[in-house]
Formats: sequence, structure tokens, C-alpha cells
Amino acid sequence: MSHRLESPSNIWITGAGSGIGEALTRALVRGNHRLILTGRRSEPLEELCRVAPEKMLSAPGDTTNQEDLRQIAQVLEDQGDLHMVILNAGTCQYLDVAEYDSRIIEQNVHTNVIGTARCLDIALPALRRTRAKGLPATLVIVSSSAWWFPFGRAEGYGASKAALTYFAHSLRADLAHEGIDVVVVSPGFVKTPLTDRNDFPMPFLVTAEDAAERIVSGLAKGKNEIDFPKRFTWTLRLLGALPQGLVDRMAANMARKGT
Ligand SMILES: NC(=O)c1ccc[n+]([C@@H]2O[C@H](COP(=O)([O-])OP(=O)(O)OC[C@H]3O[C@@H](n4cnc5c(N)ncnc54)[C@H](OP(=O)(O)O)[C@@H]3O)[C@@H](O)[C@H]2O)c1
Repeated sequence: MSHRLESPSNIWITGAGSGIGEALTRALVRGNHRLILTGRRSEPLEELCRVAPEKMLSAPGDTTNQEDLRQIAQVLEDQGDLHMVILNAGTCQYLDVAEYDSRIIEQNVHTNVIGTARCLDIALPALRRTRAKGLPATLVIVSSSAWWFPFGRAEGYGASKAALTYFAHSLRADLAHEGIDVVVVSPGFVKTPLTDRNDFPMPFLVTAEDAAERIVSGLAKGKNEIDFPKRFTWTLRLLGALPQGLVDRMAANMARKGT
């Protein structure tokens, strides 16, 4: 039986200023939890804090910047026990293979993998202190289901989310004996500023509010793997289980048509 989110919890969330992070923040505040919000731009965080100033605190910073993180660590410590960390900040840069540029790969990996890994420098000691008091401590990593199939132009994004998921699963193994849960969230397409830039069809697109509801519900049920919408993630699972030659032909066909 899960004890996550059963009582008002202190939660640090990154990428809180828009999209999934913002919707998650609003949903968790409605559930009476207290949120510490991080993102590079302070304005959207300040605006969000106005929704419930007594339950939200802005702690702006770049998750790839170790000095910013040191300052955020102090804010976290001042708030008392930290029960949950949601590492959601991310980027999606697509590659145009005709103009191949390794910086696209680097940008995706730097924000999505290195940024998330650096957040652990400050999150893990805080979660350990909470766990040492016998309280639940949960690390949530927002990955993606995109890497389950080799989509064209997603070399950088897909590689970063594949690496991030491996990172999370490996951490789950190492932290199991300490009783710190590691949850991986793998959304399909969610309507946010990140996907508003996409110029291709996005099957089974869900709203950010819908995504937040599914994530909070999965967390409360004690799930360690949360993926949605099921019609999309099951399709990807089935496609990914086909022989590689077949996957390659389908992927090349889709890349050629730009879908
Ligand atoms: N939307 C989808 O379809 C979808 C699907 C699967 C997975 N995801 C994942 O879900 C997460 C949230 O994405 P979203 O769709 O909600 O996009 P979004 O609206 O663009 O949100 C991303 C947030 O991350 C913050 N951010 C980016 N880089 C940062 C950095 N270096 N330091 C601190 N904050 C940073 C941004 O704020 P600032 O610019 O102010 O820093 C922004 O608020 C991402 O990890 C994304 O990969 C999204």
C-alpha cells in the first residue's frame, strides 16, 4: 500500500513554469501539497505562486547550472522535510539530418540528462534526510515514450530520453535498499509549448491537465512506471517488439513522409 501523497507533502518540481510542470503544480496544490517551483524564467513561476502563495515558493534557476542548484539547495533545506522531487525540466530539439549538427544532440543531452543528473546532487541528500526519519521519499523523473520507436529527426531527443530512463532504472536498483522510490513517467504527446512547435501529426494528443491527472493518480497508487495515453504507448510497445528489419522499414518510411 502506497503512502505517497497521503498527507500534505513538500515537493520540489522543475520545469514548473509551463506545460506538464505547470499543470502538475496546480493539481498537487489542489491536493494540499506544498510546492517549490524551479525553471529558468522567474516570471511564470511568480505568477503561478499567486494561485496559492501560502503553498508555493519560487526557486528559479537553470537545472544544468551547479551554482544555481547550490542556491536552490538552501531553499529546499529551509522548507523542512522534502518528500518528493519531480524532475520534469526538459527540452526537445529536432535534427535536420541534411544539415547535421552535433550541437543538437548535445543540447538535448545537456538539459535532459546532465541537468537531471545535477539536480540529484541536491535532491538525493534531502530525500535521504527525510527517509532517515521513516517518511516516504520519492524521486520522479519525467522521461518520454518517444525513444521506444526510432522516429526520424529525434536522434537527440530520443537518445537523451533513452539515457534518462536507463539512468532512472539504474538509480531505482541502487536506491531500493534505502526505501527511496524512483518513478519514471513516459508520456505520449501532450499539448504544451514544447509540442506547439511540432509541424507533424501527433496521434492521441492529450491536454497538460489530463497528463497531470494521470501522473498524480499513478503516484498516489504507488506506481513506479507511469505511461499514457495507453493507446499510444501500447502501440509503440507493439511496434518496438517487431523484428528490427521491419521496424527499420517502417521508421524509414515515416521519416521519408515526414510523419
Ligand atoms: N509535451 C509532450 O508531448 C511530452 C511528451 C513526453 C515527455 N515530455 C517531457 O515532459 C517534460 C515537460 O515538457 P513540456 O511538454 O511540459 O514542455 P514545456 O512547456 O516546454 O516545459 C518545459 C519546462 O522546462 C523548463 N526548463 C527547460 N530547460 C530548463 C533548464 N535548463 N533549467 C530549468 N528549467 C528548464 C522550461 O522553463 P524555462 O524556459 O523558464 O526554464 C519549461 O517550463 C519535458 O521533460 C519533456 O521532455 C513532454
